[in-house]
Amino acid sequence: MALERTFSIIKPDATNRNLTGAINAVFEKAGLRIVAQKRVRMTREQAETFYAVHKERPFFGELVEFMISAPVVVQVLEGENAVAKHREVMGATNPANAAEGTVRKLYALSVGENSVHGSDSLDNAKIEIAQFFSGNEIVG
Ligand code: PPS
Repeated sequence: MALERTFSIIKPDATNRNLTGAINAVFEKAGLRIVAQKRVRMTREQAETFYAVHKERPFFGELVEFMISAPVVVQVLEGENAVAKHREVMGATNPANAAEGTVRKLYALSVGENSVHGSDSLDNAKIEIAQFFSGNEIVG
């Protein structure tokens, strides 16, 4: 087992409904430690850069508009196998397919307004963390 760090976003649909604490409780109960966290309003440029891998997909414009529509909470989560564990507790991208007890089953509204983002690999976690945090903001 490896101690990992992953990147997480609590998305606008969740911050709008005051669900930050409830979602953090799911993460902490799963053994993920919040080692950095801040509430930010993403700029259009930040959102476009962050989701650049999806820029050819039909929902790209909608996704960017959504992510800049309200504050988000960006986080670094640490734990054993944090990348996989975080994805497990988030649940499937589409809440209709998410398992019982997962964040998206509990709180997501749709495949777009799906409450949380999590890195899909350790390499991407490092890239995504660096987009929002400097090293001294992460306190393990
Ligand atoms: S995955 O995991 O990359 O296969 O998931 P994917 O279905 O490709 O979705 C990638 C991100 O795009 C968001 N998404 C959408 N946003 C708005 N409208 C529609 N229709 C839509 N479909 C997918 C989805 O929430 C994923 O966001 P992140 O932040 O990466 O979880």
